[in-house]
Amino acid sequence: MTGTEALRRAVLRLREAGVPGAERDARRLLAHAWGLSSDVLTAHLPDALPAPAREVFENSVAARARRVPVSHLTGRREFWGRVFRVTPDVLDPRPETETLVELALAEPFNRVLDLGTGSGCILISLLAGQAEATGVGTDISPAAVLVAGENAVAHGVAARLVLPLSDWYADIGGRFDLIVSNPPYIAEDEMAHLDPEVRDHEPRLALTDGADGLTAYKAIAAGALDHLAPAGRLLVEIGAEQAAAVSRLFREAGLDAIAVHTDLDGRDRIVSARRPAG
Ligand SMILES: C[S@@+](CC[C@H](N)C(=O)[O-])C[C@H]1O[C@@H](n2cnc3c(N)ncnc32)[C@H](O)[C@@H]1O
Repeated sequence: MTGTEALRRAVLRLREAGVPGAERDARRLLAHAWGLSSDVLTAHLPDALPAPAREVFENSVAARARRVPVSHLTGRREFWGRVFRVTPDVLDPRPETETLVELALAEPFNRVLDLGTGSGCILISLLAGQAEATGVGTDISPAAVLVAGENAVAHGVAARLVLPLSDWYADIGGRFDLIVSNPPYIAEDEMAHLDPEVRDHEPRLALTDGADGLTAYKAIAAGALDHLAPAGRLLVEIGAEQAAAVSRLFREAGLDAIAVHTDLDGRDRIVSARRPAG
């Protein structure tokens, strides 16, 4: 069977299963099974698909039809121009989180804290973009911290970061000139409405606080003044409807220069704030 034929069958199967973006996903899975990069796949499609690659491809298409995320089948996800290892223990890095990285890199920093680091995609991207900086990435999930460590090694920044287990700031000392976080912000009553890829396959701890979606922001705001250097910045990702509530929490915690930033789709996505300089 040629690659073209295998791809055609896979697209049909995924469409029948109601998978959105069936062709895009089938191409990514075929390239992965065949050991090819996506940009050269098209040139190889007329070739015969080797039997081992065909078996891997058919198994992964079957799993995708059951709504297993593509990143869990390939073990990788591109974020801010780098490929990160992704497992079911970490949130699959989202393109909208790149907005946070872009804003953070708009000003220089020396010492950065990433609360809820997951795969480490934010912290590692920041350290890769700021050659002299050092960082701390915390998570409450031991499995997530291991994945972040592998990614730090893969991207050559392991010597400039530490990855302690911590419940937000509980085990974090010192002050930082930049604190970033993409915390779990989905309210419990929204969980049932999520796509099955997210609801059934991503870690619950990475998605929701099991309450109103604001628990993490309350903890992050409460500890901000004690962990930010004077004039230090705090940047958090938010859900599209949370800008007013998170801005209020930051104001009540004594932060200033509070601003809301949109993502490429025009939705509120980031709230930034600063510790007063004095
Ligand atoms: C939305 S995910 C973000 C992961 C990664 N930073 C990213 O942007 O892809 C939130 C992360 O916060 C972690 N987390 C949840 N509760 C936490 C807590 N109490 N303290 C520290 N981290 C926590 C989760 O394990 C998860 O890795």
